[in-house]
Amino acid sequence: MKKKSYFCRLYNLILYIMKNIEFKTVARSCQMDELTQEERLLVEKAKESTKLSYSPYSHFAVGAAILLEDGSIYTGANQENAAYPSGLCAERTVMFYANAQNPSTPVKALACACFTGGHFTRKPGSPCGNCRQVLLETEQRFQQDMKILLYGENEVLIFPSAKSLLPHCFVDDDLNG
Ligand code: THU
Repeated sequence: MKKKSYFCRLYNLILYIMKNIEFKTVARSCQMDELTQEERLLVEKAKESTKLSYSPYSHFAVGAAILLEDGSIYTGANQENAAYPSGLCAERTVMFYANAQNPSTPVKALACACFTGGHFTRKPGSPCGNCRQVLLETEQRFQQDMKILLYGENEVLIFPSAKSLLPHCFVDDDLNG
């Protein structure tokens, strides 16, 4: 048998000593008829909101709907721009809108749906990294988890919070060192 080199043995030892830390995210996969009435209404609003999208460049329409703790619902969609980075995703468009109109009311839930090529996507679209960070800030600001519902023709994914979409996240507390 070939003898392992000193470096190879040292490397294995380091791997053995190092601790692996796991960051887990658990989402629930549902069908529309398994949702509560409140959840289904929000998803329907998100689907409807894809019609508000201004997406002449990507032809990928994203609709989002937000339910606030007082029962009010806000809707929005992605807004693109010829200078691509100047556009904004649906989640941030609607979250900034809702927070600006209602700065003291916590967000209870957010739903999203994506429409392209003449149909809703089969797989649920997932918020991009920048949107996740913004959703997280709102959650932290109100000290209350928001449920996130991602619609796809095949399944609806439900995440219990924005934080669950962004494990090991950067939050205001990190600024204190
Ligand atoms: N988009 C969203 O609105 N939300 C996301 O989370 C991902 C992407 C938009 C941005 C752009 O207008 C189009 O989808 C294609 O990326």
